[in-house]
Order: sequence, then C-alpha cells, then structure tokens
Amino acid sequence: MVIKCLEDYDAISSHAADIVAAAIIEKPSGVFGFATGSTPVGLYKSLIARYQRGEISFSRLTTMNLDEYVGLSADHEQSYRFFMQRHLFGHVDVRPECIYFPPESGEPSAFDDLIQSKGGIELQILGLGSNGHIGFNEPGSAFDSRTRVVGLASSTIRDNARFFEHSRDVPHQAVTMGIRTILEARQILLLASGANKSDAVVRSLEGPQTENVPGSCLQSHHNVTVLLDDAAAAGLTRNEK
Ligand code: F6R
Repeated sequence: MVIKCLEDYDAISSHAADIVAAAIIEKPSGVFGFATGSTPVGLYKSLIARYQRGEISFSRLTTMNLDEYVGLSADHEQSYRFFMQRHLFGHVDVRPECIYFPPESGEPSAFDDLIQSKGGIELQILGLGSNGHIGFNEPGSAFDSRTRVVGLASSTIRDNARFFEHSRDVPHQAVTMGIRTILEARQILLLASGANKSDAVVRSLEGPQTENVPGSCLQSHHNVTVLLDDAAAAGLTRNEK
C-alpha cells in the first residue's frame, strides 16, 4: 500500500487525476470504477480539464459506479446517477450505454458478473466514510460480500443529511458493490480529506483488519494508493510526503 500525504484537497485532486489519467491512457477501453460523495469532486473537475485539453478520452471506457441509493430516480438531484452526470459524465465523451450502476432490483450480484464479463475493473476510486465504510459497506460487512442491497448506518445517514433538504429525506437503503467486488479491482485509489476522516484513516490503514472497519480490508490488496491531506493523515504514525 502506498500512502501519500499531500498538503491539501487540491493537491489530492490533481495527484489523483494524474493517476486516473495515466490509467485511462494505458487502458483506454478498460473498466473504471467511480465513486460519488464530496471527496472525488475535485478529481472529476481535474479530469474534465484534461479531457478538454485533449489529453484523455472516455470514449472507449466502461464505467461502473460503486453504489446508489435505493428509491431515488436518476433525475433526483441526490441520486448518484445524477451526481455523476453533473460532476463528470455530462462533461466528457463517455458513451451513455457504457455507464453502469448497481441495480436496486432484480439480482444485484449480477452486477459482479457484468463487471467480470467486461474484463474486470482496472482502477476503482474510493472515498472513505467517517465510520470506515467503503462504498456503502458499513461496519460489519463481510469481506467476501458481493453487490447487494444494504441498510445505511445511522452515522452515514447523519453524514449524508448535509446533501438533502431534510435529514428525513436521506434514503435508508442503498445498493453497493461488495467488499469482495471492490477487492477484485486491479488497482484501487482511496482518497480522504479533512479532520473528520482521520480516525477512519488510522483504523483502516494501521488498525487490525476487521469487518468492523470495512476500509481495513484494503490492507490485503496488492495495489492500493491512498492520497490524504494533512488533516486526514493527522493520526497516522507513518506517512510519506
Ligand atoms: C460514495 C461512497 C461513499 C463515500 C463516503 C465518503 O460513492 O461510496 O463510501 O465515498 O461516504 O463520502 P464523502 O466523500 O462525501 O465524505
């Protein structure tokens, strides 16, 4: 695991964009896993700028998003499909028919088969929940879990209430790639910024690997890069500048 501590959010975003752009250039028809939430917004801005400068193209990519709320339509402003349109897909040349989200109905684990049938995920982008979740794999999620419908932890509902008009509007269920699904990606890029992530960062990166801290599963993956700002990295005993 490579852990890099950078000065601030902008530095994380542009360093992350370097990594994602290099992977797209190397595998222009690869499968890329995207995350939502506030953390990757700067990364997506930087990818759009690179696309506009002609440095990268999304035209042959397949995209697989990590998760989606259950019960929100694609045109609901807080749905993750809407988020991705607004922050990335609507600004680049990705083909709409190559954009996939985990399905909330039918058999969600069919999403894992779909990922495999497209060749597997080249690079998976992740944020980290303040409770250590990755995707919506909340504490207690099995390390061998597949894509499935899950209940959101009350801390996640509280954290995500900032995006909704009323906290009662936050969905209580989501469909998420499983931990095993995420670990099957060939490369993982985890981003975390801000003091409210520092505890989850320490527990994920330096604590024991336990299903109580979903992010700790990443310690067993052979190709993970973690980009942190100083505030998120504050509790780590080791970090590289
Ligand atoms: C989003 C996702 C979540 C977020 C996490 C951090 O697709 O899977 O795990 O990455 O909740 O969210 P932010 O970035 O808003 O702090």
